[in-house]
Amino acid sequence: MRRQPLVTYPSASMPSENPFTSTESYYAEHRPQYGERPIAHIVDRFDLGERSRALDLGCGAGQIAVPLAAHAGRVVGMDPNERMIEEARERARTADASNVEWLVGSDADLRGAVGGEVAPLTVTTMGRSFHWMDRGPTLDRIRELTEPGGGVAVFGDTEWLTSGRRAWQDEVYETAREYLDELPERTGPRIEPYEDPYDEMLADHGFVDVEEAAFERTREWTVDGVVGYVFSLSFCSPATFGEEADAFEAELRERLEALGGPFEQDDEVRVISGRKPT
Ligand SMILES: C[S@@+](CC[C@H](N)C(=O)[O-])C[C@H]1O[C@@H](n2cnc3c(N)ncnc32)[C@H](O)[C@@H]1O
Repeated sequence: MRRQPLVTYPSASMPSENPFTSTESYYAEHRPQYGERPIAHIVDRFDLGERSRALDLGCGAGQIAVPLAAHAGRVVGMDPNERMIEEARERARTADASNVEWLVGSDADLRGAVGGEVAPLTVTTMGRSFHWMDRGPTLDRIRELTEPGGGVAVFGDTEWLTSGRRAWQDEVYETAREYLDELPERTGPRIEPYEDPYDEMLADHGFVDVEEAAFERTREWTVDGVVGYVFSLSFCSPATFGEEADAFEAELRERLEALGGPFEQDDEVRVISGRKPT
């Protein structure tokens, strides 16, 4: 049996332009960090240090770029959503991370001239973002821009609104479904084989020593956190609720308060990584 797929962010009801438009402040505050262990894993695996150069593609609000900055000489955070970049800058300021540069751009830009400006790279990370990209050509480009022995790492975690099975998660999903026609279906924990697994994709695009590391944890959410998390999702952004966003939020809060906590979530952060041959 294969592990569950790393991509757990359905893109079915993607609003036009950037799918994360209107989520940015919720994303920055409420989307979970990956924690120390996955970052330490990458630092060890690619022997990161003062001489290392990292790219975090689809960096969002800096959930990887900023903690990684403490372990590399230079980090570039790149994302097509300018407001996300602003949130990331703020996170870097707060963390006193002065060795991060921010670029507004997508995987397509990386495949163009921008790639030459960020190379040579020791490692490229992509957290909860790879599924938005033209993946094969992007992996080829990353491999070109990476120094031998360096590599690529795809981070993911558990999207609980569609895959969680706890009673409070049912309640959140049911509430959202009353407001949104195009909410992605509830899959439950996924155990079936999946198409284009990322480990195989990395190997198909010239990376070697491909491996997957998993880090389990249980987290507890507050009502504010649950509301913020839901609004951080591309398919539940405030923009997707439109004028009903306030009504949805009020109803969700009421239903969660009535249910009572604790709102526990089982989470697994997974990192799939591969190395460019020396
Ligand atoms: C779910 S967020 C992930 C943010 C952050 N990496 C993290 O791990 O929390 C996905 C990010 O991918 C970005 N994105 C969407 N399409 C992209 C593309 N074609 N190239 C690069 N990034 C993209 C979005 O703007 C968004 O900030």
